[in-house]
Amino acid sequence: MESKVKILGISGSGRKGSFNSALLREAASLVPANATLEVFDVSGFPLYNTDQEVSPPAEVRAFKSKVKEADAILFATPEFNRSISATLKNALEWGNRPPSEDVWEGKPAAVVSASSGPRGGARAQAVLRQIMVDLDIYPINGPELFLGKAQEAFDQDLRLKDERTKETLRVLLKALVEWTVLLRGRSGSL
Ligand SMILES: Cc1cc2nc3c(=O)[nH]c(=O)nc-3n(C[C@H](O)[C@H](O)[C@H](O)COP(=O)(O)O)c2cc1C
Repeated sequence: MESKVKILGISGSGRKGSFNSALLREAASLVPANATLEVFDVSGFPLYNTDQEVSPPAEVRAFKSKVKEADAILFATPEFNRSISATLKNALEWGNRPPSEDVWEGKPAAVVSASSGPRGGARAQAVLRQIMVDLDIYPINGPELFLGKAQEAFDQDLRLKDERTKETLRVLLKALVEWTVLLRGRSGSL
């Protein structure tokens, strides 16, 4: 493959001390040598409204361009009420519409989640995977990363101190890059 695999990281949380955003920052330092990871903050988008989808706000247009340019997506989702956050759902909706400007179709992806609870966002990931079927996104199935009791895995500067989680993240990123290269070879256009 000629160029590096460009991964776009999207966090479903705009919280300053977000564990999910921290996971993405950590991922940026763990990507394989043949890949890059850039994070886009989607937490300030206005609520999706069909009336505005033909000429969306500038920040949404910038986001859609970034998704289009990206070879793969890494989602980091919080779990809110056993589902994904409104922040993430909103970004998915803006990216999906109008149908002629859907930016999700055919994108390789991976999902991670962090939660203060013991289940690490497993239920949110299940919901996100269901949504990805509709969006025609192609996620890797494993390895899975559900970071429960996330407050114990990070230090005060929100750096991952848990080595096992770091290793899982490293393997997951490698799998995402391999999957992306495989799909690129098949389509010839990714
Ligand atoms: C409205 C709300 C609902 C939540 N529901 C769940 C839940 O269903 N399951 C869970 O594990 N954690 C739940 N939590 C806890 C979040 O997982 C926790 O706040 C997490 O740190 C949020 O992600 P962030 O650190 O990236 O902001 C909820 C938090 C909020 C604010």
